[in-house]
Amino acid sequence: MQNKSGKAVVARVLLPAGLELLEQRFEVSQGGLDVTREQLEEMVPGAIALVPDPSVPVDGELLDLCGEQLEVVSNFAVGYDHVDLEACSDRGIVVTNTPGVLTEATAELALMLTLSAGRLAGDAERDLRSGLWTGWNPGAYLGLELRGATVGVVGLGRIGLRYAEMVSALGAEVLYTASSRKVEAEKQFGFGWTDLEDLLRRSQVVSIHAPGGEGTRGMIGRRELELIGPEGVLINTSRGTLVDSDAVAEALEEGRLAAAGLDVYDGEPAVPESLLSAPRCVLLPHIGSASHISRDGMARLAAENAIAVVDGLEPASRVV
Ligand code: DGY
Repeated sequence: MQNKSGKAVVARVLLPAGLELLEQRFEVSQGGLDVTREQLEEMVPGAIALVPDPSVPVDGELLDLCGEQLEVVSNFAVGYDHVDLEACSDRGIVVTNTPGVLTEATAELALMLTLSAGRLAGDAERDLRSGLWTGWNPGAYLGLELRGATVGVVGLGRIGLRYAEMVSALGAEVLYTASSRKVEAEKQFGFGWTDLEDLLRRSQVVSIHAPGGEGTRGMIGRRELELIGPEGVLINTSRGTLVDSDAVAEALEEGRLAAAGLDVYDGEPAVPESLLSAPRCVLLPHIGSASHISRDGMARLAAENAIAVVDGLEPASRVV
C-alpha cells in the first residue's frame, strides 16, 4: 500500500465503505451534511482530491481555492451537472463519477413511483391517515395497470434501460427516445425508438432518465404536458431541472395530467409549494440510489476513483 499522503476533502459526507479506503490513502476532512459554501472554501486549500455530492456546486472559483495540486474531483454520484466540467478540463483536473452501482436501486425506485403514482397510492394513503377513508368504494382510487400500457422512457442509459426492462416484464410496451438508437435493446426486448414528441403523445407513462444540465433544462414544460395528456403519468428520478414543477402542479390541479411521481426538484431541498399541495402526486426526497448496496457501492467507487487518479492510474469511471 502507498504511504498515506496528501489531503482529500469530502465536501459533505462519505459512507464508511468509501471513507475507510480514502483514509488509508489520504488525510481526509469531511464538511458534514450542513456544510456551507463558506466553510467549504475554508476547507479545500491544499486538497489533492475533492469528493462532492450532487448538492455541492463545483465551479472554477472552488477549484482555484483548492490550488494547483488538485488532481481529481471524484463525484459521489453518477450525475455531474453540478460540476463545471470545462473549468476542470481547463485546469487539467480529472472528473470521475459512480455509474453502474446505483442502476438497480434507481430503476427500482422509478418503478415504485410508476406503480404508486399510477395507482394513486399517495392520495389513498393520505386519505386513510387523515380519517377520510369511509370504506371500500368500487369507484375510488382507480388507476393504471402496466400490462398493456405504453411506457415512454426518455433517455435509455443504464438506468433508463433497466427501468424499461422492468416495466416490460410487467407487460408494458416500451417506447424510448435517446441521443442514439439502442439497436440491441430494440432487438432483445422489442423496445420502439421514436422522437420525444411522438413518445409523449403515445405513452400513458413517461419516465425521465436523461441527464441534468443546461442541454435538458425545461425539457418537460406546459406544451409537453399537454402532449402527455389527462390520462398520462409523469415520473422523474433524474434531475429536477428537466421538469417545470409549476406546470406539473397546474396540470394535476386542472385534471390535465393523471398523476406524477417525482424524486428530484429544481433547487432542492426546497420543494415548490404548488407541488406539495397538488393532488395525485407522489413526492420523494431524492432517494433514487438510497439502498444499502448502491450507496456503499457509490462510496467505494468514489474513493477508488480518487485514489487511482492520484496514484497515476486510469480511474474506473472517468467523465473528463
Ligand atoms: C446520482 O448519483 O446522480 C443520484 O442523483 C444520487 O442519488
